[in-house]
Amino acid sequence: MTYNEKIDLDDGTSIPALGLGTWLIDDADAAQAVEDAVSVGYRHVDTAQAYGNEAGVGAGIRRCGVPREELFVTTKVAAENKSYDSAAASIDESLARLGLDRVDLLIIHSPQPWAEFRADDNHYYAENLEVWRAMEDARAAGKARSIGVSNFLVDDLKNIIDNGRVRPAVNQVLAHVGNTPFELIDFCTGNDVAVEAYSPVAHGAILNDDEVLAVAAAYGVSVPQLCIRYILQLGLVALPKTANRSHMEQNAALDFTISEDDMARLRAVKPLESYGEHSFFPVFSTQLG
Ligand SMILES: NC(=O)c1ccc[n+]([C@@H]2O[C@H](COP(=O)([O-])OP(=O)(O)OC[C@H]3O[C@@H](n4cnc5c(N)ncnc54)[C@H](OP(=O)(O)O)[C@@H]3O)[C@@H](O)[C@H]2O)c1
Repeated sequence: MTYNEKIDLDDGTSIPALGLGTWLIDDADAAQAVEDAVSVGYRHVDTAQAYGNEAGVGAGIRRCGVPREELFVTTKVAAENKSYDSAAASIDESLARLGLDRVDLLIIHSPQPWAEFRADDNHYYAENLEVWRAMEDARAAGKARSIGVSNFLVDDLKNIIDNGRVRPAVNQVLAHVGNTPFELIDFCTGNDVAVEAYSPVAHGAILNDDEVLAVAAAYGVSVPQLCIRYILQLGLVALPKTANRSHMEQNAALDFTISEDDMARLRAVKPLESYGEHSFFPVFSTQLG
């Protein structure tokens, strides 16, 4: 049975708790991946301007045979778009590439441009408010049903919550067994901001972890299934990436419950030492330990 729970958002809408991640899926392969995912039962797809695959994702959404209103599509305004005009133009370009009239969720990809990710000296507060205003206007114009952020820390979020017209519906953050930002999650949920977990399988870095393998074996499931179920039981949205249909099926077969004791054990799994060959990506290199 394919997992199909939803999570309510503060703006009165809801989001499927399981979504297909598409980072590093080539544009040429993205339509097939989306069609496969939808036929498996997924109803939520996560892309971004920066992934270079909005055209393929949009083609898959339009071709998959399931009515558009039953599908949830997210895209993200590139981290480098930090003015009202560049953000507004990029939203229109995204819709054109996707071939859609609107997305269900539009996200600021990062509080800082990637080259300055997590730099202490510039939070881009004023610029993020400009981008947020462009997103509020896009929402008011019907181009996005919900708007949110990604990679925002508490101060970045407070800036938007205190000064924006619309509260972010979500914050999409790095969260997986071995690296779960519990304090940030508590702040988000305490402020009615839903949390989406990206890289729920640690970008693949946790697949051979002995402790996690042992817990997965006790439930007769794979490490990805255990890791995705852990995220869902924390009340977060999980966005596992794969273009492999059998992995899609496995990752949506979540008809088991992790016990409280095992949730506590998974919460305490020691942090990864690195994301291996992928450590050069700023989302990974800045967020361990
Ligand atoms: N907002 C942000 O800044 C941000 C940053 C990173 C990611 N994201 C989003 O989150 C999504 C997921 O993150 P991610 O792509 O970094 O990593 P992930 O989903 O944690 O892990 C993907 C890796 O796990 C493997 N995998 C998945 N299911 C598997 C299975 N059942 N069995 C064996 N291997 C499996 C995949 O291999 P195969 O492809 O071979 O299945 C791939 O190597 C992204 O695609 C993107 O949508 C957002």
